[in-house]
Amino acid sequence: MSIIQMSDLEMDDVTFLTCRESVDGVTNKSLRGDCGPFCRNRRVCRKQHPHHVHFSFYQLLIMVALIVILLISTVLICAFACPFKTNQCHIIGAIEETNTTQVNSSSSHLLATNGEQFPWSDLRLPNFIKPIHYDIFMHPNLTTFINRGSVEISIISEEAVDFILVHGKQLNLTQITITKFNDESERITVDKVLENDEFELIHIKLVNNLETNTEYVVKINFTKSLEERLEGFYISSYMDSSSERKRFIGTTHFEPTMARSAFPCFDEPAFKATFSLKMVHEAHHDVYFNSEKQDTLIYSKEGLRLSVFDSTVKMSTYLVAFVVCDFKPLDARTKEGTHVRVLAPRDQVNHGELALRSAVSILTYFQSFFNLTYPLTKLDLVSVPDFGAGAMENWGLMTFRSTAIMYNEKTSPDSAKEEVLTVISHEIAHQWFGNLVTMKWWNDLWLNEGFASYVENLGVDHLYPDWRMLDQFVLTTTQEALALDSLESSHAIMNDVKDPREIEALFDTISYKKGAALIRMLKNFLGPDNLRFGLKNYLSKYKFSNAETSDLWRSFSNIVPNEVINVTSIMETWVRQKGYPVISVRSYGEHVLLTQKRYLSSPLSEDELDGNNTSPFGYQWIVPITFITSHNPRDATLIWMSSSNSVIPFPHHVDWFKINVNQTGFYRVNYDEYNWKRLISLLDRSGPDTHLLSPSDRANLIDDAFSFMRMDLLQPQIALNITSYLEKSKERDYVPWVTTIINLKILDSIMEGHPLLRKFILRLIRVALKMWKRGWIDEGSHLDRKLRSSIYYAAAYFGEDTTIRIAKQHFDKWSQDAYQPPPNFRKTVYTTGIMLGDTEEWEFCWQKYVKERIPSEKRLLLDALAHTHNPWLLSQFLNYSLDRNKIKPQDTAYVITHVARNPVGRHLAWRFVRSNWNTLLNLFGTGSFSLDAIISETGWHFSTLFDYNQVSSFYSSVPLGSGFQSLKQTLEKIRANIFWKENVEAKVINWLKIVDQR
Ligand code: BES
Ligand code: ZN
Repeated sequence: MSIIQMSDLEMDDVTFLTCRESVDGVTNKSLRGDCGPFCRNRRVCRKQHPHHVHFSFYQLLIMVALIVILLISTVLICAFACPFKTNQCHIIGAIEETNTTQVNSSSSHLLATNGEQFPWSDLRLPNFIKPIHYDIFMHPNLTTFINRGSVEISIISEEAVDFILVHGKQLNLTQITITKFNDESERITVDKVLENDEFELIHIKLVNNLETNTEYVVKINFTKSLEERLEGFYISSYMDSSSERKRFIGTTHFEPTMARSAFPCFDEPAFKATFSLKMVHEAHHDVYFNSEKQDTLIYSKEGLRLSVFDSTVKMSTYLVAFVVCDFKPLDARTKEGTHVRVLAPRDQVNHGELALRSAVSILTYFQSFFNLTYPLTKLDLVSVPDFGAGAMENWGLMTFRSTAIMYNEKTSPDSAKEEVLTVISHEIAHQWFGNLVTMKWWNDLWLNEGFASYVENLGVDHLYPDWRMLDQFVLTTTQEALALDSLESSHAIMNDVKDPREIEALFDTISYKKGAALIRMLKNFLGPDNLRFGLKNYLSKYKFSNAETSDLWRSFSNIVPNEVINVTSIMETWVRQKGYPVISVRSYGEHVLLTQKRYLSSPLSEDELDGNNTSPFGYQWIVPITFITSHNPRDATLIWMSSSNSVIPFPHHVDWFKINVNQTGFYRVNYDEYNWKRLISLLDRSGPDTHLLSPSDRANLIDDAFSFMRMDLLQPQIALNITSYLEKSKERDYVPWVTTIINLKILDSIMEGHPLLRKFILRLIRVALKMWKRGWIDEGSHLDRKLRSSIYYAAAYFGEDTTIRIAKQHFDKWSQDAYQPPPNFRKTVYTTGIMLGDTEEWEFCWQKYVKERIPSEKRLLLDALAHTHNPWLLSQFLNYSLDRNKIKPQDTAYVITHVARNPVGRHLAWRFVRSNWNTLLNLFGTGSFSLDAIISETGWHFSTLFDYNQVSSFYSSVPLGSGFQSLKQTLEKIRANIFWKENVEAKVINWLKIVDQR
């Protein structure tokens, strides 16, 4: 925020300085005769340039006086205000002249590390100096943790400027030389090198101007300490089971802005270039890079090796990756001949089989889906022992957190298998969406993440159609995005960002899940083939280059003419304004009147809301309304709603109608009471396998109804009655059941386990348990097994005695014998044992955790440990989370958020976060996923003004990193909870009393 304000100020200074130069007669080749392109008031400035006009004596006198005053004031102001030396002022002028980047700031108070004024004041690089190729040399020492490196960047400048600007972060620069390409004897003299920490920039001032369109090589030597962090070029480690020794590896994670911390570079996605790497390493290590290895040479007589790699294809810096390790590969080839490898520590790599097989099939599938071959000859998937995110799509060298790639048939639950498939599919999708075609700037991040989050489902669906990924999509993606995007503190998918923290904050539910949900909506109204043809066009037109959102829309106009469906006009209303509409429905005879209004689950008052003027479309959307009716329940009709009201004529009287078929539209629908009741009765009348409404439709009605109830927009007797068909054993499907459980858990959390609500929930759960009475046998389809697992866990969580008893028996057997509970029941067994037990059980599980090697099992144990009801153990567990010898930093956020989900741990977790905020901030750097989760999970459940004030005042007193967005959302959720307590809870309790007496 402060940066934006600063730029406004600085704009005036630019104007002033350039005007002064004209008056002074200090000329600069690149300045036009007037004030320069950024002068706000050229008319005034032009007065300084004499014309051939005759003046009277008085006029002359006044003019001379004016000029003298102006000169004196200019000199004075400049002496006190101009922070630049004359030649540095010129630099600013020269940059403005090119008018390439939005240099909206100049005389900033940005200082170089040596205390001098830093001569560049924009976070963005100028775009007239372009990198062509990088030759990277690295010599990381995995004993001293020092990396000695150099980079030779070939560049071309389109402007004759006397400086070069690159990104660099905490690099210790030792030498810089610049030569003409292919002519090392032609050295360019460097005048001065300045660095700025805030903007992470290196400014190399030259004695002479660069010649335009001439290739130069900038060679920068540097050293850098490698840390055990989770970003940049960092150290990770694992215990080798055969030697019982800790092994160190070097690995990278650059997205979005950390390549600059590994080597100086033009670290913006539009500066695509090719990259080569030479790396020195020990003989027992190997090195992996984006491209194929060319050779391994002897580097020193001590036995060091030098690995030399081919040049990569043209790509962005954030996709560069290298790993130096002693991992073992598993390998295979696709039928097109691409070499695919899974790399992991020796004793774990056999658990990479599933990942390898899936990667091979999905890579082949996406090539035919996009009709574009994968342009590299190899694709590596590395299981990194310490990894901040879930996975990263580096081109040809994807990196994964171990739980996202390792799978053990015998011990891992089905959800783990689905996770591995989904993550791999997501990262392979990026090889086209993101790697081949990259967003021009981060404001279009959703083009990467939204697409991959949609397309990942197609990849998995191709391999496992019975997992019904696109039905699960409404649960995992659409509903989550709808929940977040109904807050005032949400943001438009396309969001202006500059600062690395703002960029980090964009990796959120809106870019990923709303983005994916919008692509699904687009597919639904264009048709799957049109979507695919449009995507093909887009990818082949912009391959090895960059694109923006509008380019994507244009790719559909060749396929579906604008007169038929104007994709740009429709989709712009969804990507350029935050939020989404609620469609309210009233039936009048044979007509149905629809009105659209922005849906807010926020209790903010009118003046706290943005108002319509912050949206370019006044919070109106062009909405694809799809519906089915009792007359025609199988065929959906599509109509477009582009104004605030629409009327749908129904030719005959219809018994019921359902809008937003399969929840493919990104909106909610609130019917009149009559139609809600007809829909409830429709569900009640169906048999479990004869529903006219699809599982997604059923889940959609449940999710919308609960959301409206929380905002007092639907009476509890209607909203909660939707679940009555579940109680009558009419639901067997995974998606509606889990939607219900999630919504009930939210209520339970805000109502702090109110006994009547618990009774209501347990009645439902018992029905579900009966339907799955085949008992504790882990059988059936993938979704059956997942559903059974969710229901057993919910039963134990809400205190269903039989489930608890059986789970405890399994736990006791597990802790006494060599017995292993079936993988899908382990979560329930471990958590129940911990919930019912005390120190002894907790210690037992902790020891299991310490010794366990299988990542999915380790995570289950960590989850279970957070379930204890003993506050002392929870406090100890929180403390462990900051001790890297006990819990890896990659899992710190997992522990804190899971303790916060435990009603006994809520306040402990919140207190812990407050007392350790700086440590946490340091640990995660700008990494947004972890900070977001910590802020929201430790705060969202509060429901009193007192707690609201505590959260708000604490975070206003500390730096937030990329967590600012998450904080706004959390505060708004607390206010929604307060609203619930004051306005809705009593009604719900009344209704629960009535139900209880039935
Ligand atoms: N590009 C991201 C990784 C990333 C995340 C980089 C955050 C920078 C900041 C990657 O493609 C990704 O989205 N990973 C997900 C997993 C995916 C299956 C949703 C992740 O890390 O959780
Ligand atoms: Zn991604």
